[in-house]
Amino acid sequence: MNNIISFIDENKERYIDELSNFLRMESISSSPQHKDETYRCAKWVESHLRDMGIDTVEFIETEGHPIIYAEWMGAPGKPIVLLYGHYDVQPVDPIELWTTGPFEPTIRNGDMYARGTTDDKGQVFTHFKSVEAYMRLHGSLPVNLKMIIEGEEEIGSANLEKFVRENKEKLKADIVLISDTSMYAKGVPTICYGLRGLSYFQIDLTGPDRDLHSGSFGGAVQNPAQALSEMLASLKDKNGKIKINGFYDDVRRLTKKEREAFARLPFNEKKYAKQLGVKELFGEKGYSTLERVWARPTFEINGMWSGFTGEGAKTVLPSKAHAKVSMRLVPDQDPKKIARMFKKHIKEIAPKNVKVELTEMHGAKPALAPIDSLGVQAATKALRKGFGKKPLYQREGGSIPIVVTFQQVLNATPVLLGFGLPTDNPHSPDEHLNLENFHNGVKTSAYFFDTLAGMSNGK
Ligand code: BES
Ligand code: ZN
Repeated sequence: MNNIISFIDENKERYIDELSNFLRMESISSSPQHKDETYRCAKWVESHLRDMGIDTVEFIETEGHPIIYAEWMGAPGKPIVLLYGHYDVQPVDPIELWTTGPFEPTIRNGDMYARGTTDDKGQVFTHFKSVEAYMRLHGSLPVNLKMIIEGEEEIGSANLEKFVRENKEKLKADIVLISDTSMYAKGVPTICYGLRGLSYFQIDLTGPDRDLHSGSFGGAVQNPAQALSEMLASLKDKNGKIKINGFYDDVRRLTKKEREAFARLPFNEKKYAKQLGVKELFGEKGYSTLERVWARPTFEINGMWSGFTGEGAKTVLPSKAHAKVSMRLVPDQDPKKIARMFKKHIKEIAPKNVKVELTEMHGAKPALAPIDSLGVQAATKALRKGFGKKPLYQREGGSIPIVVTFQQVLNATPVLLGFGLPTDNPHSPDEHLNLENFHNGVKTSAYFFDTLAGMSNGK
């Protein structure tokens, strides 16, 4: 093990150069204009895995972006770890708010800035580098390893879902290792045991069949922007409760034990608000902030647009109004059931004087991962060595759509080992990754494989 850790220390600079190459590719999965760049990034992952010393690497074309599958099965009797990560990234808008270009990786104050640094290229790369260290020094790994690196996580993982269902035997694994979450704070290594789910919609309203002069026609017809605002406003009350019939029916209540555990975590409301640039926090009454973001469902407007939004003033009554909205879900809410409820509710509250169309976009099931599994025990020990501290167990508010599929279809136990920080700005301008976390992450990954092999005694 010592030689692996020394190798990781000695190769620090090279890792940064290689990660920068990974980050330069504009693999924005949701953008049709970036399809070729996303493909180029997938090809880069494929050849990088080969260069790491892994022989079995498959490039799998899908109806969307490619999946890279790789495996090394040379440790008979040892557990099979399935490493999952994504090479796709979120769009970069508003680009003018980035200090340096989103695809020009730059180091400032010990952090690497670029789209995808923390979510998820930088985090996946920690495992690539630990695997490489083992392959270079020993020509083998302590455990069996399968890898799935996909390009559609940020758009719901629909093609991967299909691939997993169709390749159950091939993908069989004991543990799914994922680094796509965050640590509670700097210096506090963390294992995540809960993720929220998601249901996402676009709403399009049409009033008059063209934009109208607001003087000649204002007062004669319903304004779709007004109608949309009223509809959206009615979905949440002043206490932050969501007003969709049946929405809370399947929400699993937080246990007393869990509430107490959340409450024990150091959390400063004022500091948190300040760091987000708001005067005060807001959310569902009766729950603490951590409870609200980790274990309660929400409704959010992701964006809305209508009519004239340019400079100056234009007296117009718009023909159309649009919104993108989403609901974060918690156990045991089912995104399909929630989507049905949402559609029904919107139909009920839609005024007769406008046309309302709903488009269902991606969804994700909420996930919980047991913290007493062998994988989490190994990860706990690995974090202690890699970061020098005992880890904390927390839930998170984001979603990783494929986690539940891995649990249900492959019967594999998730280990959510995150090296990001809550201040990393994923999905926002100036996304970054702390390089000390990255480096300790590479070591933690190496310790994880070694510890797991030792703990499993022939499995
Ligand atoms: N890395 C995130 C998931 C995440 C976010 C975990 C925050 C913990 C905290 C992931 O890449 C992501 O952003 N997922 C999307 C999924 C969605 C598009 C289906 C998300 O949560 O919005
Ligand atoms: Zn993301």
